[in-house]
Amino acid sequence: MAQYYTSKINQLAGHNGEEVTIAGWLQKSRSGGKVLFLVIRDGSGFCQCIVEKAMVSGELFSELKHLGQESSLCITGQVRKDERSVGGYEILVSEAKVFCDTKDYPITPKPHGVEFLMANRHLHLRSQRQWALNRVRHTVIAAIRDFFNTNDFILIDTPIFTTAAGEGEQNLFNVDYFGETACLSQTGQLYLECGALSHGRVYCFGPTFRAEKSKTRRHLTEFWMVEPEVAFITLDELMELAEDFVCSIIKAVLENNISDLELLGSDIESLRKIKKPFYRLTYSEAVDILTGPKAAKYLEDELISLSSSLEDAENKLAELTETQSQAKKQWQKDKAAAEIIEINSAIAELKRRIENNPKHARLAAGFQWGKDLGGSDETIISMMHDRPVFVTHYPKDVKAFYMKSNESDAGVVDNFDMLAPAGFGEIIGGSMREDSYEMLLERINEKGYNPQDYSWYLDLRKYGSVPHGGFGLGVERTIAWLTGEKHIRQCIAFPRLMDKIEI
Ligand code: 4AD
Repeated sequence: MAQYYTSKINQLAGHNGEEVTIAGWLQKSRSGGKVLFLVIRDGSGFCQCIVEKAMVSGELFSELKHLGQESSLCITGQVRKDERSVGGYEILVSEAKVFCDTKDYPITPKPHGVEFLMANRHLHLRSQRQWALNRVRHTVIAAIRDFFNTNDFILIDTPIFTTAAGEGEQNLFNVDYFGETACLSQTGQLYLECGALSHGRVYCFGPTFRAEKSKTRRHLTEFWMVEPEVAFITLDELMELAEDFVCSIIKAVLENNISDLELLGSDIESLRKIKKPFYRLTYSEAVDILTGPKAAKYLEDELISLSSSLEDAENKLAELTETQSQAKKQWQKDKAAAEIIEINSAIAELKRRIENNPKHARLAAGFQWGKDLGGSDETIISMMHDRPVFVTHYPKDVKAFYMKSNESDAGVVDNFDMLAPAGFGEIIGGSMREDSYEMLLERINEKGYNPQDYSWYLDLRKYGSVPHGGFGLGVERTIAWLTGEKHIRQCIAFPRLMDKIEI
């Protein structure tokens, strides 16, 4: 037999007609009497391998016929083009070697609940969706580093153990640090500001910790955040930087991950249309939209359209169930079963949105100036836009102590949140930083913090203070938005949630 690891499935196009060896895992198999169809996953892709009884020994044919899902093996055979086959090429098997004949793999092709899949996360990572999501994550992270590295930013690694809370004290994870209380970093920003006054343009990128007690689709307790910080910049320039940054991530994903996006059901056409400039609203304009007739009308129309999509989906489900029960061949039953899983998940999502619609409408109508925008409010604003939206100038009292007060209206700060469109919500939070020593001290006192804990941070305002600002982008939220994934827990290999710490 040829060497084990000679070819990768994603390179089979370059070997049409040749003999290759691939090594991987059995995703699924079916037997057609004297021929077996094995779908193999090798990490780079999926490929159907055909085993004809006449071409291999009886012993091998029988061994392959009884292999369980997720058995590991390598296969040698001739590559041939077949448009109908997964990946466009198949392999006509001449030899094979089984490494591990897996029995009773727990994650079968039938639908499983989220709890079960989370408890089996170590295995669930092999599923096609997780595989595609991790590949998109890889591109997003590479694009992030690329953007800052090619735009004159210096990487500054900020500490994870810290004594300075950046984003309020409600969601800190405290740890015992040799008898002292420290906390896990909620943001690298305060340290990054020191770096900006040294290098001008800096960024940090790492895990971030927040003791989020809410179980929402947008919150993890450990997530990855990238934060740039720039000296001598205005709020408008900062927003332009954020636009360029987000466009560069979209471009990279569209260039590298189209097949993953297709598999995940992402709205690729809408992503292609995202161009600068993004929309810009002040917080006050956002409140007017939420409480006025525009949002109410939008939500009513949405409800009508969701109800009609639900009816269509339920009809489709009935059709598929009929097809499945009438199907004569096993592969036809399997195909219908796979489509039923998909349509059921679409129905669940439509029902969730129908249920949330009146809740959104109620909350929006009762919104009052001065409150922070909540998840529902952001959802409505973002649903009404087809490109990302900046919401700027929030009330000072609902925002962090370090945000700079607006010069002409001291009740609001020079900040922005960037909301991803089509109902996704916030992916970036950013602001200009208070650069006056006196004003910053006042804010620290107003918030009831101890100025001693921030003495080094205050020093930045004493020694060469400059207008500066920055923002933070949540990696998992960005991936969820780009891929259309409903919950950000799927956008990191080993998610940490309020009720999930194992595996
Ligand atoms: O708006 P946030 O809290 O901003 C900061 O931490 C600033 N210090 C950033 C800066 O200006 N340098 O968080 C920024 C982003 C959010 O927009 C969101 O994408 C993500 O971080 N994020 C979370 N992602 C997942 N789970 C959570 N619990 C998150 N909290 C924030």
